[in-house]
Amino acid sequence: MTLLLVVAVANPLAALFGVHVLGMGQISYRFDGTNVVLVIGGALAIVVGLLALRHMDDRKGVPLAADLIAAVRGERFPKGAAEHVPGLFVAFEGGEGSGKTTQSRLLAIWLRDQGYDVVQTREPGATKVGMRLRAILLDAAERGLSARSEALLYAADRAEHVEKVIRPALYRGSIVVTDRYVDSSLAYQGAGRVLDPEDVSKVNAWATGGLVPHLTVLIDTPPEVGLTRLGGAADRIESEPLEFHHRVRKEFRALAAAAPERYLVVDGTLPQETITRQIHDRVREILPDPVPRESEDATGTMPAIRD
Ligand code: TYD
Repeated sequence: MTLLLVVAVANPLAALFGVHVLGMGQISYRFDGTNVVLVIGGALAIVVGLLALRHMDDRKGVPLAADLIAAVRGERFPKGAAEHVPGLFVAFEGGEGSGKTTQSRLLAIWLRDQGYDVVQTREPGATKVGMRLRAILLDAAERGLSARSEALLYAADRAEHVEKVIRPALYRGSIVVTDRYVDSSLAYQGAGRVLDPEDVSKVNAWATGGLVPHLTVLIDTPPEVGLTRLGGAADRIESEPLEFHHRVRKEFRALAAAAPERYLVVDGTLPQETITRQIHDRVREILPDPVPRESEDATGTMPAIRD
């Protein structure tokens, strides 16, 4: 019907416009009704295309080009999707008792000391809804939770976390340091609970809008060492058997090995200060300039203070 309509309308429209010749000295440009119809058609196609993109864009905030390139390469997430935001996104990952909570806090303090605006956060439970989800997820009495609902609840907590905390901070230009992110789900739910890794990855890509950290610090600790460091009663995940925790560790290491440019793997059995130093050395490489370019331009014109 659309085609017939176009055929019916295009010809009279072209005839109505007639033929025009634009003289420009030696040369002349002749345009007629057909050209006009094609230009109108092109403009309409652009408008419809943009409207369609607005309606169908399932990963708001991720540039279309990054998505297209990732799709052609067949990647799970577009690489460095967080690269397009002004802030810096660092995630800490590791098994139970790996010391990543301590290290992520130390990193946040170190960065604040240098004048950066830092948002230190964690998963699960960094938002109001997240606190409720955390209670369900880690309650040792909640034995009957199926693996799929567990994965979905972690993803729900993450979606809330990204939308309410992480993305706004990154757009403000802050440095976000999170204790656990998507890799925890790939390791614990994907490998630990033996769910299809592709499924867990897809659910999480959707939940986060494809937001990938600039750097993930993996504190790699053997479960035998990590589990003995824990104090207090074991939560639902901590009380899983040792093989579960071995699968988790293996997956974390595999994820890091697959994209070494986005990971720092540190040996969790090293002394705390050594780990901290290794983290500082790597983070220093990717830190944004604390003095914005505009203020550098302004100070550049000031007379230098000598002696
Ligand atoms: P938490 O008390 O925050 O401890 P820690 O991070 O220091 O281990 O517990 C979070 C637990 O939730 C931890 O056992 C791992 C688990 N978890 C998942 O299984 N999947 C996930 O996606 C996340 C974020 C955490």
